[in-house]
Amino acid sequence: MYELPELDFDYDALEPHMDEETLKIHHGKHHAAYVKKFNDSVEGTEYEKVELRDLIVDLDKIKGDIQTPIRNAGGGAYNHSFFWEILTPEKDSGEPLENTAKAINESFGSYDEFKKQFSEAALTVFGSGWAWLVVGEKGLEIVKTPNQDNPMSVGLKPILVIDIWEHAYYLKYRNLRPDYIEAFFNIINWKAVEKKFLE
Ligand SMILES: [Fe+2]
Repeated sequence: MYELPELDFDYDALEPHMDEETLKIHHGKHHAAYVKKFNDSVEGTEYEKVELRDLIVDLDKIKGDIQTPIRNAGGGAYNHSFFWEILTPEKDSGEPLENTAKAINESFGSYDEFKKQFSEAALTVFGSGWAWLVVGEKGLEIVKTPNQDNPMSVGLKPILVIDIWEHAYYLKYRNLRPDYIEAFFNIINWKAVEKKFLE
């Protein structure tokens, strides 16, 4: 049983970057639906008591029809929980912390160059999907995944993500995805990113 997590902030706390109505529907309806669908899918199966994270890491080992709802609904449940964790109200946001900052500089040259590449990746996600900052074999990398796929399924460790499904921004930003991406940088919880990096 996977549970919809409570947010660490109120629905209006990320205004004006992420508006209250979007966050309310995104968390309370979209995310909740993924959680329900995932739980319904694995109920009564051998996967019912397995941690969702472990299912996503070993997704390729899951055979049969159930792989699809675990990938899509399970991925949707997990990815959104991850997304909420790396968001924070603007007053708590800032710059990458010590270890993350060092890794960003080593892998991209500078924070500005990282921001440019991450924004470009987010902007060019085709259809619905996600752009991630992950720890790979040679340091930090930026990857994109379609639908509700997660980089953990291919052995990468995600530390930051932006949701590029239209439900994440369309009510406020309409077709202006670049504005949503720019706003996202004001509400990144770098403390949470640092923690994920060090885990
Ligand atoms: Fe979403």
